Amino acid sequence: MHTKALLLASIPAATAAETILGAYIFSRHGDRTTKAYSPTKLTALGAEQVYRSGSWYRSRYIDEKSSTRINGISSDLADLTELSVTAPVDNVLQGSAGIFLQGLYPPAGSVNSQKLANGTTIEAPLSGYQYIPVNTAAAASSAQSESNAWLQGNSGCPAAVNSSQAYFQSKEYFELLESTKEFYQNLLPVYESTFSSEKATFKNAYSLYDYIHVSTIHNASIPSSDLLAPSTLQTLSDLANIHEFGLAYNASSPIRAVAGSVLASHIVSTLKSSISSSSSQKLNIQFGPYGTFASFFGLSQLSAVSQDFTSIVDYASSMTFELFTKSASSSTPDEDEVFVRFLFANGTASDSNPAKAYPIFGQDKTEFPWTTFVAEMNKIALEGGSKEWCEACGEKTGQCAAYYPAEESASVSEAKKGGMSNAVAGVIGAMVTLGVVLSLQALILGVGGLRLTKRRKQQPQGTSEVFQVPARKSSLSDTLSVQKV
Ligand SMILES: *[C@@H]1O[C@H](CO)[C@@H](O)[C@H](O)[C@H]1NC(C)=O
Ligand SMILES: *[C@@H]1O[C@H](CO)[C@@H](O)[C@H](O)[C@H]1NC(C)=O
Ligand SMILES: *[C@@H]1O[C@H](CO)[C@@H](O)[C@H](O)[C@H]1NC(C)=O
Ligand SMILES: *[C@@H]1O[C@H](CO)[C@@H](O)[C@H](O)[C@H]1NC(C)=O
Ligand SMILES: *[C@@H]1O[C@H](CO)[C@@H](O)[C@H](O)[C@H]1NC(C)=O
Repeated sequence: MHTKALLLASIPAATAAETILGAYIFSRHGDRTTKAYSPTKLTALGAEQVYRSGSWYRSRYIDEKSSTRINGISSDLADLTELSVTAPVDNVLQGSAGIFLQGLYPPAGSVNSQKLANGTTIEAPLSGYQYIPVNTAAAASSAQSESNAWLQGNSGCPAAVNSSQAYFQSKEYFELLESTKEFYQNLLPVYESTFSSEKATFKNAYSLYDYIHVSTIHNASIPSSDLLAPSTLQTLSDLANIHEFGLAYNASSPIRAVAGSVLASHIVSTLKSSISSSSSQKLNIQFGPYGTFASFFGLSQLSAVSQDFTSIVDYASSMTFELFTKSASSSTPDEDEVFVRFLFANGTASDSNPAKAYPIFGQDKTEFPWTTFVAEMNKIALEGGSKEWCEACGEKTGQCAAYYPAEESASVSEAKKGGMSNAVAGVIGAMVTLGVVLSLQALILGVGGLRLTKRRKQQPQGTSEVFQVPARKSSLSDTLSVQKV
């Protein structure tokens, strides 16, 4: 659906009069295995998708010959003070970020070599491979984990979990649950090896869609595949989109979109540092799940402009906030000479699918004066872990305890511990303090969707896709497994 405003969307022309000052890229991971079987893994196809996307961003922002190169950014050898790359503790997202960076700063051969004292020249392994770190909230120092708090903002926000739960009580939900009963039951021959008849309902719209979608990409044969006409596949996708958007955003309950709010806060604070003369940071890259896109699309009013923005974004999709100036003295322009534009590429960004500019916040233009942009973003932003976040989330424990009188927070945390094993309570405490990341989408999927993974006593190291979290409401199962991407 293309409405009037979206017709304005266009690839920003690389006008010589513009100087790009910095950018913030938020990307989804590439193709992966189905969530039905844990652990979910990035596939070779997925790696190739994010690699190509990284290469496209190189051609836009890094390449020496690019007319839209970020002013002064290092072209061949990555300068780590110019970059900030983050992904949650998750093998699919971490892997995607690492491979994207290989597209952005490929092995530099002899450029990435050094001459030793004795005269020998040593080239870095793998043809001058550049090892750019992908930070996680947990690994960051305490100062950094403050600025990375957006990752946590997706987690441990009880009011957001509550709000998403309310979707399952909505009229829209019950109507679709009823009207799609037969549709999902008719497809049982396709998925009955994995989903029981009881699970084959709209309640699990995303899990069912994901299982079939992944199979259509990877399985040469699918049982009863004659049932999967193109229109049926489309319906599966449409229903999953409605389900997931319902969990990610509701205009009358903004806290549901807390992931988008925390992202907005992080974008503003990061871009601010890109225009400050005291910082050399130029390019921020974050990897995260589709739910964060959906929440942000809702909050920034894109979903109201086009229904396309209520859909799950394709693998390797990216949205970018680009800072630029038209001023000739471009190195440190005044704030009122700085502009921002929002770009989005659905799926792998490439020359044939470049990121395009779209108007956000109900504007009719795709470029914002910086101050207007900040004002609009601040209306929807919540800084993860801040007092406002704690209040909006109804959270009083962990890092929020500092904002509440000692007695109250102590009694709350005691009450929360009740009924949980000490080990579980300990793990939760550790997650809150260390900032180990759970995403809201994960919680939602765990709560509202279906878990197929057989629970194991121990998760294998390094495959931390699944966390156990305590149920907050008695109607939920006593332990919920959480999955993230
Ligand atoms: C120079 O030093 C490096 C590192 O210690 C060593 O591997 C290399 O063999 C040395 N080369 C010569 C010619 O001594
Ligand atoms: C969640 O919802 C329950 C009841 O629906 C309510 O009692 C509780 O205060 C809510 N919690 C938060 C943090 O909003
Ligand atoms: C959005 O919230 C309103 C008010 O709480 C509710 O009536 C409506 O059903 C909700 N819609 C969805 C899709 O959850
Ligand atoms: C696709 O293949 C995987 C791996 O062999 C299997 O687990 C899955 O059930 C298959 N999907 C379908 C729809 O049969
Ligand atoms: C992205 O592509 C999917 C189909 O692959 C579509 O459903 C969705 O609407 C698209 N999103 C946007 C914003 O164009």
